[in-house]
Amino acid sequence: MGKRVAIVTGASGGLGKEFVKLMLQEDLDEIWAIARNQEKLKELKQELGNRVLIFSRDLTQSEQVHSIRELLLDQSPEIVYLVNNAGIGKMGTYQDFSVEEIEATITINCSAVAALCALCIPYMKRGSRILNISSQASFQPVAYINLYAATKAFVRSYSRALNLELKSTGITVTSVCPGWVDTDLLMKESNGEPINFPALVTAKRVADKAMKDAKRGKDMSVCTLFVKGMHLFVKVFPQKMVMQSYARSLEKYLE
Ligand SMILES: NC(=O)c1ccc[n+]([C@@H]2O[C@H](COP(=O)([O-])OP(=O)(O)OC[C@H]3O[C@@H](n4cnc5c(N)ncnc54)[C@H](OP(=O)(O)O)[C@@H]3O)[C@@H](O)[C@H]2O)c1
Repeated sequence: MGKRVAIVTGASGGLGKEFVKLMLQEDLDEIWAIARNQEKLKELKQELGNRVLIFSRDLTQSEQVHSIRELLLDQSPEIVYLVNNAGIGKMGTYQDFSVEEIEATITINCSAVAALCALCIPYMKRGSRILNISSQASFQPVAYINLYAATKAFVRSYSRALNLELKSTGITVTSVCPGWVDTDLLMKESNGEPINFPALVTAKRVADKAMKDAKRGKDMSVCTLFVKGMHLFVKVFPQKMVMQSYARSLEKYLE
């Protein structure tokens, strides 16, 4: 096998950039940073150095996800880490989403995650780690971030079962389930009102904890006591009740 690499999607900002920084501390030859925005990717390389290789791909487009196969065939790397981090989501009712937006969200949040796992696993060895970024929103259905929450439930379910399937190979899969993280993904205000995100954390804190948990081979990474509490809450209380409480807290932000 060739160079030891980490692949990080959605690497140009937010949580993905923090993962790239953490990968630079690992015994790796290259970090492959994938996102759309070429300018932001170039800035990332300038800031973090030549071990970061940048690849501009739009992961809402299936053929651009498939193009990673050619890259792998060409380079034949040893993939030590795969971080499926790129994801999109927005708040709104079912009427606020076009069919194209629905398909794009499912492609990047679900299909690309499973496809990249399938493409990368043949290049992994015992001890390689996959981190798939899910969300606290995966714990139960959530009205008004319905599509997003459903895609993140897919990621969590897929990742945990894949981890079990891979047990004999020594490759682990960690489903990372953060609560609110202070990144550009979050809409900061609605109807002129600042949005309140309970227990908001930094991207660095989530990435640090996720890497620690992945190295321990945990199948889920939950960063804060608040999110751990929410995970327990949905196990103890009826889902309908939790769903209604979430819906009430989000309703006021709908335009
Ligand atoms: N922020 C939160 O509260 C929160 C909570 C739980 C889970 N998460 C999850 O954490 C992950 C990272 O989110 P974040 O908060 O760091 O968001 P972010 O700051 O918006 O960053 C998203 C990253 O994904 C890339 N990206 C967006 N669309 C893409 C596309 N079509 N193709 C390829 N790359 C694309 C962006 O780069 P380009 O624009 O250059 O493409 C950027 O690098 C996501 O999966 C998200 O669902 C976030």
